[in-house]
Amino acid sequence: MDWSEAFETGLSVIDAEHKHLIEFITLLGRADVGQRRRFTDKKLLEDLYTLTKIHFETEEDFMFKADFLLLDSHLGEHSTILGTLRTLIDAFAVDGDAQPVLDFMSRSIVDHIRGEDTALADFIRSKRQGKGKPDPATRGKGGVRKP
Ligand SMILES: [Fe+2]
Ligand SMILES: [Fe+2]
Repeated sequence: MDWSEAFETGLSVIDAEHKHLIEFITLLGRADVGQRRRFTDKKLLEDLYTLTKIHFETEEDFMFKADFLLLDSHLGEHSTILGTLRTLIDAFAVDGDAQPVLDFMSRSIVDHIRGEDTALADFIRSKRQGKGKPDPATRGKGGVRKP
């Protein structure tokens, strides 16, 4: 999996983090079996977890500031991805197979960028352009801001 313009949301901070995340996943995916055994020693999968968590926090900051309508479902998706990533990294610590981690992250990050993150970026851009009304596709589906 390589970074592609198809992943761009149009928000430069978020796009830069997505690019970094995808490049890191791709780099890990290219490691051979011997290199993968050292993922634990070098804590590379923990770095992937941290990178993902930091990225989600960046987006959540955008969401809170913009009063994003789909806040709750987007937060839920981040939490689900991090939970699964944690489970798979813990399994790697036992069986030494990094492939499930890399497969899951490749798939879920791309799906998430094209889905929830694109909706978030569209919402923020439309707000910045002063349209006043968010995209109809993102309207009225919950998103109550947590205290
Ligand atoms: Fe997201
Ligand atoms: Fe994202």
